[in-house]
Amino acid sequence: MQEIVRGLKLKNKTIGFVPTMGALHEGHLSLIRKARKENDFVVLSIFVNPIQFGPTEDFSRYPRPMKQDIHLCRKHNVDFLFYPGAKLMYPLGFKTYVVVEQLSDVLCGTARCGHFRGVATVVAKLFNILQPDRAYFGRKDAQQAIIIQKMVEDLNMPIRIRVMPIVRHRNGLALSSRNIYLNEKERQEALCLPQALKFAKDLIKSGERSSQCIIKKIGEFIGSKKTARIEYISIVDLKNLKPLEKIADKCLIALAVRIGKTRLIDNIVVKVTKSQSHQ
Ligand code: PAJ
Repeated sequence: MQEIVRGLKLKNKTIGFVPTMGALHEGHLSLIRKARKENDFVVLSIFVNPIQFGPTEDFSRYPRPMKQDIHLCRKHNVDFLFYPGAKLMYPLGFKTYVVVEQLSDVLCGTARCGHFRGVATVVAKLFNILQPDRAYFGRKDAQQAIIIQKMVEDLNMPIRIRVMPIVRHRNGLALSSRNIYLNEKERQEALCLPQALKFAKDLIKSGERSSQCIIKKIGEFIGSKKTARIEYISIVDLKNLKPLEKIADKCLIALAVRIGKTRLIDNIVVKVTKSQSHQ
């Protein structure tokens, strides 16, 4: 792969990179399409990264529909599919990790200890191997995208990070490789995530500015669902992920909820202009 990349660089070709863990869906495909538009070559990686899963998480049962993924890559004109094995990425004696401090300890980092260390490390390795000009991430994992942006800035990696909107099912549910874990009833209950975010947006539209009040109201709404267990609901600054007492400028409303045994995340970005924030 490094040799291929060197060849492309010699010819002054640009490389767009889409890192994934496979089980590709429309969310991933939207990243491929954008990469296709903005670069000469598109590289997609599939690697279910063991070090970003906790010991009790779903690493072993994470879906790996390789044939289907290869077909989708072909269909969407991905030029190179990079799918390294775990022994190649983490040979015996591997010792170097990337930690983006503070940003990794909040929101999803609270319950998933070490998760973002695993994400930042594998993405740094993939960036070093593939040396892309641009790399594409989804807003679905907003915290992940912010952490990667910070890593690239702090470590002087010459890569543009492009963050693309969340792709949703017609009914509002954010697409995720983990949605296949949900049974029919849980699928219905999972709609409480996008509905709660819409509720928060409506509250803000009607003048509510207290984060605590919004969190309480949408918490009650999600809490009324039988199979739902809230992990967190947070309203934070979009850049530094610090909690915001009052809604102002650009804020991220993010939540993680367990529906039965499946952990789902969702978020929206809300923009409030100065005149609106005086309401
Ligand atoms: P994975 O969950 O496969 O997601 C790969 C990329 O697709 C991420 O940038 C994610 O935010 C984006 N994505 C997933 N669902 C989306 C949706 N509904 N709409 C828009 N984008 C969506 O995220 C990972 O893999 C891994 O942590 C990885 C970055 C590959 C490192 O191992």
